[in-house]
Amino acid sequence: MQIISVSSFKGGTAKTSTSLHLGSALALFHQKKVLLIDFDAQANLTTGLGFDPDEQDSIAPVLQGEKTLQEVILTTCVPGMHIIPADTWLERVEVSGALAADRYSHERLKEILRELPYDFILIDTPPSLCWLTESSLIASNHSLVCATPEFYSVKGLQRLSLFINNISERHGTKILGVSLSFWNPRGKSNDAFLKVI
Ligand SMILES: Nc1ncnc2c1ncn2[C@@H]1O[C@H](COP(=O)(O)OP(=O)(O)O)[C@@H](O)[C@H]1O
Ligand SMILES: [Mg+2]
Repeated sequence: MQIISVSSFKGGTAKTSTSLHLGSALALFHQKKVLLIDFDAQANLTTGLGFDPDEQDSIAPVLQGEKTLQEVILTTCVPGMHIIPADTWLERVEVSGALAADRYSHERLKEILRELPYDFILIDTPPSLCWLTESSLIASNHSLVCATPEFYSVKGLQRLSLFINNISERHGTKILGVSLSFWNPRGKSNDAFLKVI
């Protein structure tokens, strides 16, 4: 089982689109069993697959020890692909309930995702280095980094790589690669961006 975090510092770098399309391609064209986890309280992945985030449980009650994973997994319209939706409770989940008192709350997701019947678990993370992103990276074997060919996006990669390397030393997460979206073939700074990456 491969667990991949789709991450970046910024919004609008195609994290959600990449999670959705990569997951669908693995399920449809490679017959893999895929679980998507919407780990961003904005819930775009959840909405994109036709679910109402206000009517579904997220992984928050599982992290709090109040529900089982099976109770929050939904079947999607893509055969072989399931999703755990997001809701607004995900925001600041770490400061409430059982997690608030747990010094090792960052490692709860990793424990929960151990030995599940999926080939791939893709986690769509929020656009910041918050508790959710850190938990996701700790739980993952790999991180797929999303960026756009813009100065601040590429600048953010340096901080993200320091953050991931730090987690990698303790938990073994490896950077799978950088996915550049919104590429402009005529961009003046293209060479400079590719050099940094
Ligand atoms: N390769 C692409 N080309 C054009 N538009 C894209 C592409 N990838 C994503 N988008 C659009 O850009 C917006 C931001 O993408 P999204 O996946 O939500 O980014 P993020 O999750 O990083 O905030 C969405 O409206 C999405 O439909
Ligand atoms: Mg998103």
